[in-house]
Amino acid sequence: MRPLWTGIIVTRLGRRLDMATSRPPTNLLVRLDARDRSGLQRQICASIQRAILDGVVVPGTRLPSSRALAEDLGISRTTTLLAVQQLQAEGYLTGRRGAGTFVAEELPDDLLQQRTARPRRMMRHPALSRRGATLVAAPQAAHRLDGPPRAFRIGTPGVDLFPVALWWRLASARLRSITPTLLDYGEPAGLRGLREAIAGHVQAARGTRCDAHQILIVAGAQQGLELISRVLLDPGDRVWMEEPGYPGARSALLGAGARIVSVRVDLEGLDVKAGARRAWDARLAYVTPSHQYPLGVPMSLPRRLALLQWATRARAWVVEDDYDSEFRYGARAVPCLHGLDVDGRVIYVGSFSKTLFPALRLGFVIVPSDLRERLVTARAAADQHPPTIDQAVMTDFLVEGHFARHVRRMRMAYRERLEALRAAAERSCGGVLRVRPVQTGLHALADLDGVDAARVSLEAVKRGVEAAPVSAYFAGKEPRINGLVLGFAAVRPDAVRRGMEKLAMAIEAAQRR
Ligand SMILES: Cc1ncc(COP(=O)(O)O)c(C=O)c1O
Repeated sequence: MRPLWTGIIVTRLGRRLDMATSRPPTNLLVRLDARDRSGLQRQICASIQRAILDGVVVPGTRLPSSRALAEDLGISRTTTLLAVQQLQAEGYLTGRRGAGTFVAEELPDDLLQQRTARPRRMMRHPALSRRGATLVAAPQAAHRLDGPPRAFRIGTPGVDLFPVALWWRLASARLRSITPTLLDYGEPAGLRGLREAIAGHVQAARGTRCDAHQILIVAGAQQGLELISRVLLDPGDRVWMEEPGYPGARSALLGAGARIVSVRVDLEGLDVKAGARRAWDARLAYVTPSHQYPLGVPMSLPRRLALLQWATRARAWVVEDDYDSEFRYGARAVPCLHGLDVDGRVIYVGSFSKTLFPALRLGFVIVPSDLRERLVTARAAADQHPPTIDQAVMTDFLVEGHFARHVRRMRMAYRERLEALRAAAERSCGGVLRVRPVQTGLHALADLDGVDAARVSLEAVKRGVEAAPVSAYFAGKEPRINGLVLGFAAVRPDAVRRGMEKLAMAIEAAQRR
């Protein structure tokens, strides 16, 4: 016969007592807290779940009846009965007719997961691979605050101006005429219609030709970077990374076990000669040639040609991250690097996060034809494909001309926001903060004179303003620029002006320290 109850309790003195008795006493199972507003039934459920999780009651243990629980706790029997029924429905308890209620022999998965996720266990078995540990050790952005877009958030477009009603209309039209095909698993490369629309778009807007077959729809540029790194790199491979550069790309490369070789960026973009000196045999180079992140310079033509030449000779890949170059203010479009590539060494990564909105999580990768099948197979192993209905709505947005209209409208709005930033910086922080000319994109670089940018950034956060120090984008310890990266797209001109007044106060506070 099985023991009716075996359990371990921890006494107030911390000693563990083995118990063997017919049923666990109610006060070991359930603690009610009068201040807890979640309700008695929820508290009972949570207490019993915790007792199971902590091993106070083991599988097969018989519990007190709902009547006994109600009496011991001094509450209504209906409440205890409902709690027991809920735990039975969730699989924590089982009822045997005439015999009582027992802790289930097979516990639900979520409970087992909670068990494995308990910090005590994690500490005993450090669960991370070396690659995982390197990946999560990357410093978190201290300049970033929670909550809605605010001055001078980087990477967030003007989502306040997104035509939500139009998107909703397109989405409902798609849902009204939904077909079984759209509800089934889709193509891992993404919807064909969307790939065709993107092929047309990049040819017109980015000066490169590609076939819809070469396009892979991904859940944002970040997934593209992660996929490329995972599929093309072996742990220990050396890769060139712009210094300063985009932390998301650095994380994707580290996650694949790459050894990052930081290559300095100057006014012409990535210094190819410096890269070749440091690691001629690198397997891959990550670049943002249209609008270097975060310095904002475009890569010069001689550098582009030198980079392609190196990639061909070294048989290396070049990953071109073209994240925000649709937004230009006066300057002519710089055609993308992909358009110059004749050897199929460039993999182009594009995103709709800046042109539309980041939560959409749609981007695309243009891959050389001979790599296509392998990347599609690897992509399917990760998440099959992005949500089909969002892809369908995105297709309509592009094909019906809304995308081009929206980009034109946003370009005008961003020009106004950028002007507001410049004027406000001049007025509120003139002499100390100098905003560099901006020709493309959604952020500006501003040099600081006589005050430490990292300190200003901390003071800004205290005042509810995000102002990233350029140093946050350097992997090396000695950043060459004392300045701030200021996003100007996320909020309206009046909020930009108010933000700048707070930033001026932050600068003053940093100067006093
Ligand atoms: C340089 C750069 N690349 C890629 C991304 C990631 O874009 P997505 O949202 O499409 O993953 C960002 C986002 O801020 C970025 O700044």
